[in-house]
Amino acid sequence: MRTVLGIESSCDETAAALVTDGRVILAQRIASQDEVHRPYGGVVPEIAARAHAERLAPLIEATLADANMRLEDVDAIAATAGPGLIGGVMVGLVTAKALAMAADKPLIAINHLEGHALSPRLADPGLEYPYLLLLVSGGHCQILGVEGVGRFRRLATTIDDALGEAFDKTAKLLGLGYPGGPAVERLAARGDARKVPLPRPLVGSDEPHFSFAGLKSAVMRAKQAMDKGAGYTEADIAASFQQAAIDCLVDRTRRALKNVGEMNALVVAGGVAANQAIRSALETLAAEHRLAFVAPPLALCTDNAAMIAWAGVERLALGQSDPLDIAARPRWPL
Ligand code: KG4
Ligand code: ZN
Repeated sequence: MRTVLGIESSCDETAAALVTDGRVILAQRIASQDEVHRPYGGVVPEIAARAHAERLAPLIEATLADANMRLEDVDAIAATAGPGLIGGVMVGLVTAKALAMAADKPLIAINHLEGHALSPRLADPGLEYPYLLLLVSGGHCQILGVEGVGRFRRLATTIDDALGEAFDKTAKLLGLGYPGGPAVERLAARGDARKVPLPRPLVGSDEPHFSFAGLKSAVMRAKQAMDKGAGYTEADIAASFQQAAIDCLVDRTRRALKNVGEMNALVVAGGVAANQAIRSALETLAAEHRLAFVAPPLALCTDNAAMIAWAGVERLALGQSDPLDIAARPRWPL
């Protein structure tokens, strides 16, 4: 059995996890910075980096203690090396390098998006390559053919905003605070999705991509109209927004399924995959195509270190590791 220590610090979660090649999460800890950034209504990169620098080392110590392990007992150290907020990425990657050097263990630099992309395989041993992946997070909105470790075929991306960003902006407009996605989902459950007419950008289009900028501006206009007495509530706006987003996701994914070769499953990952309405719409789409539907458990959808450790497990199994001078990358497309 081999065990990888994973470290995640690319946004506003400081996280460490120990994961085995038998798909067991021996221990994992996440220190969320929600409280730190809430007064600003979004993540402040400099403050995030400082918080990671304060919290990461004790968090790793506690994670090892939870599993009754010492650093010498792990087989490799994997850390997010990008893409993300560079200050935080550097804190995690440099910590991983120091630990790898001190304990004489291989270092594995992980692309955060690959962490999300492979996380469904940690939860589901039956999930084989290739699969069609809808990767929806705060910074990304892509449809990928996942053919193996490091082997991705990008079939669609967003031409403007990511879907998580649209959820966060909608939350801000509706006064729901930060983080926005879960708050919009909760409010949407009480609203009527037919009340507020909103656009579905690119739905039915021949090109493969996503666009959410127009939807975001329409939400802003709807809120202004509501304030002037249009006959609907914030919950109706949230529900209508969420339904428009779902219609876009389903249409674009359906198009990708039509054009891609044989796939073993339809998979959704990334922070927005925590949304239950989105999951069930995609589950229905998969059933229509007689495809297995896989979505990681909620805790594995939003940023975490178990997915980074798991990507490390997969890379270690292929004999891969990285040199100690590997760079942190703010941008790093799959
Ligand atoms: O993957 P993630 O934790 O961080 C990035 O790598 O971006 O994704 C965070 C994003 C945020 O935009 C957040 O609002 C969104 O995922 N999110 C949700 C939900 N939970 C998190 N969006 C919609 N519904 C949710 N339940
Ligand atoms: Zn993420």
